[in-house]
Amino acid sequence: MSTERRAPGGWVNSLLDNRDKRLPRIAGPCGVIVFGVTGDLSRKKLMPAIYDLANRGLLPPGFALVGFARRDWADENFAELVHDAVREHARTPFREEVWARLSEGIRFVPGSFDDDAAFDNLTSMISDLDQERGTGGNHAFYLSIPPTMFPVVLKQLARTGLAVQNGDQWRRVVIEKPFGHDLRSARELNDIVSDVFPEESVFRIDHYLGKETVQNILALRFANQLYEPIWNSHYVDHVQITMAEDIGLAGRAGYYDGIGAARDVIQNHLLQLLALTAMEEPLSFSPESLRSEKIKILSAIKLAEPLDETTARGQYTAGWQGATKVVGVLEEPGFRQDSTTETFAAITLQVDTRRWAGVPFFLRTGKRLGRRVTEIAVIFKRAPHLPFEKTMTEELGQNALVIRIQPDEGVIIRFGSKVPGTAMEVRDVTMDFRYGTAFTESSPEAYERLLLDMLLGEPSLFPVNAEVELSWGILDPVLEHWAKQDGPEPYPAGTWGPPSADLMIAKTGRAWRRP
Ligand code: BG6
Repeated sequence: MSTERRAPGGWVNSLLDNRDKRLPRIAGPCGVIVFGVTGDLSRKKLMPAIYDLANRGLLPPGFALVGFARRDWADENFAELVHDAVREHARTPFREEVWARLSEGIRFVPGSFDDDAAFDNLTSMISDLDQERGTGGNHAFYLSIPPTMFPVVLKQLARTGLAVQNGDQWRRVVIEKPFGHDLRSARELNDIVSDVFPEESVFRIDHYLGKETVQNILALRFANQLYEPIWNSHYVDHVQITMAEDIGLAGRAGYYDGIGAARDVIQNHLLQLLALTAMEEPLSFSPESLRSEKIKILSAIKLAEPLDETTARGQYTAGWQGATKVVGVLEEPGFRQDSTTETFAAITLQVDTRRWAGVPFFLRTGKRLGRRVTEIAVIFKRAPHLPFEKTMTEELGQNALVIRIQPDEGVIIRFGSKVPGTAMEVRDVTMDFRYGTAFTESSPEAYERLLLDMLLGEPSLFPVNAEVELSWGILDPVLEHWAKQDGPEPYPAGTWGPPSADLMIAKTGRAWRRP
């Protein structure tokens, strides 16, 4: 007999570990309390994702959704907001019977974050829900609010005892980025959160980790024999990670001004993509193994220097998005006219491990670029010897494996092939795998997966504090360097960023892909 001591609930976990992972996982009884319900994210992503989960039968009958905001609203008014958000943004079709069931568990608590009485109301509402709806004492507090508000809300959760978990009941907190502004503020923020919730109850959302194609990076690398032998500096020349958006600030100027492209997406999404691309094989897919490999690789990342040459930043000016004329960022309502916040950022990194020695990783992101595309392109070295006449291979580029995160989700391999005809002429061709044609199932939205995982207490797809801090540690010197320079270089909307970004990569003898 095993003498191993198990934590409470350990046998349940072990049963769960042995279950068939293809079976749908359904959340147990619980409530989700959302702070910041009137915000964009809540309406466009969160509420629709909750409905989509309900529609797919993945929420329990004992489920409640509670909104908390400074609005003079009754439950019905909040339910109406959720209804409209679902109608407009849900992925799955609207079904009256699903909505009827979901809306029975919708509640609203009016109040401001510093209002003790409002939090006392929330506390008694939660205990009523446990009785009426059978939410079982399990509750997640979703902070979809600016980080400056965190201390107030967390203090209230501590004061009212809402953060305390009793026995098998759980209490969790979900936080949205930005996790700080730099390393120092990220640490301060984390101290505030960890005073109230233990690390295992903190779920930090990086929605890129919930994307199907991002998870496919691990499947591609570790379920196949084909790629891993060449996934290293012997064969790889460099890696380009691009997250290009064609949209502008989309009404988020207030949030974006002062944050900029590097803080907005390089610190989180792009560094996570890099970690998954470069990390070693985890011992298993347990949260601990995955995180430990990601942490190792994030610890090994160094900035290529000098930063003047290895980084670039830009700000879009008026131009075209497709056939539409668009204004420059400085003319966007809510953006300061003398702002030096970048809307484009590119950096060069190296990964100081044996596997990646000497392989540059180029990261770039921007708003109002030529098209919307996120991809990881692994570009291979040229063959060491070409037994052809030079003219035969003039059109042959470098082999590449491109993981297309979005849109046209899939994987593309570029290699040389003989052009039909009597001469031996070699030219680049591509081999495409597309999710859309290879599979009939459609992918869940990132927020559906992440919300469900959080309700199930499955933490693999949520970065831990160490990852957040390491990522800020990588970016901080760049931000400090930029702060001492003149403002960002202009680039017309609809192009691929400022000339300095092209120069940055050209200096290493390489060029950006034009996806
Ligand atoms: C968010 C950024 O994290 O990601 C936004 O704050 C950006 O600025 C968005 O537009 C892009 O997400 P997606 O899923 O559309 O690539």
